[in-house]
Amino acid sequence: MAMCWSSRSAAIRGRAHLAATHAGAGARAMASLFGHVEPAPKDPILGVTEAFLADPSPDKVNVGVGAYRDDNGKPVVLDCVREAERRIAGNLNMEYLPMGGSIKMIEESLKLAYGEDSEFIRDKRIAAVQALSGTGACRLFADFQRRFLPDSQIYIPTPTWSNHHNIWRDAQVPQRTFTYYHPESRGLDFAGLMDDIKNAPNGSFFLLHACAHNPTGVDPTEEQWREISYQFKVKNHFPFFDMAYQGFASGDPERDAKAIRIFLEDGHQIGCAQSYAKNMGLYGQRAGCLSILCEDEMQAVSVKSQLQQIARPMYSNPPVHGSLVVSIILNDPELKSLWLKEVKGMADRIIGMRKALRENLEGLGSPLSWDHITNQIGMFCYSGMTPEQVDRLTNEYHIYMTRNGRISMAGVTTGNVAYLANAIHEVTKTK
Ligand code: LMR
Repeated sequence: MAMCWSSRSAAIRGRAHLAATHAGAGARAMASLFGHVEPAPKDPILGVTEAFLADPSPDKVNVGVGAYRDDNGKPVVLDCVREAERRIAGNLNMEYLPMGGSIKMIEESLKLAYGEDSEFIRDKRIAAVQALSGTGACRLFADFQRRFLPDSQIYIPTPTWSNHHNIWRDAQVPQRTFTYYHPESRGLDFAGLMDDIKNAPNGSFFLLHACAHNPTGVDPTEEQWREISYQFKVKNHFPFFDMAYQGFASGDPERDAKAIRIFLEDGHQIGCAQSYAKNMGLYGQRAGCLSILCEDEMQAVSVKSQLQQIARPMYSNPPVHGSLVVSIILNDPELKSLWLKEVKGMADRIIGMRKALRENLEGLGSPLSWDHITNQIGMFCYSGMTPEQVDRLTNEYHIYMTRNGRISMAGVTTGNVAYLANAIHEVTKTK
């Protein structure tokens, strides 16, 4: 039946109304589906960078994130990295890496952590996969722990890098803490640490920072590491080393692997997360390695296959560029020695800035002791400032740092050290 114009346009209006109603209902359904999702709290470290970037002040200083800067406050690409990239350019296809990542990069990483002539490498006792930097390595391990040792817990030092808590939480591994830092001396609470190791149930998993502890900059001495290792042996604990700063503590990657080597000498099975973010400046390349020392080669083959199984549904296989840069540098004696020189250069600049910050504070007549600035090691100084004092630094002086009082010494330069010292003095001179 033919429709007259008026009824036809009414029908069209009706359809349009119906469509709009459906769209509205759809939008409402969408809104209610995610309506309960609250904004996530800001990350205590990366949130500081966001706030810094949003601040238009010309005086602003970022000593928040642990990322190396040169003496002009600029990010650095190492010469050895530039040269490796030059060699890669044009020679790289874009094929997938295997699930476990680049074999060459893994081989070089293991030599760095376990020693060039390690018997464990020779005997193929180490299960290792390329990981998405140190975070990815820790996360793979945490997931492995959850899957194969579901009744285990992880003991985490107090304090630690804030993301450690997130990693083991999301892997659903229960967390315990152990004593590490002594606030009064701004140093190690060795007695408390040893007590907690002794009191943990036999066979517990412990997260240890291999060197340049983040956030405190406080490392055990070699002698203390030996005692810790001995006690671990007595208690049959498993040490998982996060080695995010190899080379950044002493300037020498070999020396910074000392804690791991002591545990290996003592016959422990260990786990190790390595990162090239800091020591090669490959922050955004997400290049790292997870390794687990097994009882024999057969066990290592099984463990590696399971680590790959965990990686596959998460990200399938790791990215290729950073791993090529790493393996080219570590595999070429000339590039490797250039890298060692550049790591030392970065560590030395930080050590120089520690001295300068302390001298500036003392020069201002600060009544407080600032010895810990030079006693602590690595990228961070755990200043002892309170969250309120840090808030004043940010609000009054545009100085950005984490609220736990951690100063990233890598962000301190000859140009800003006096300004920083003056501001710290101002906020700390009165209670
Ligand atoms: C830091 O501690 O500042 C760095 O390890 C960067 C990060 O991812 O938190």
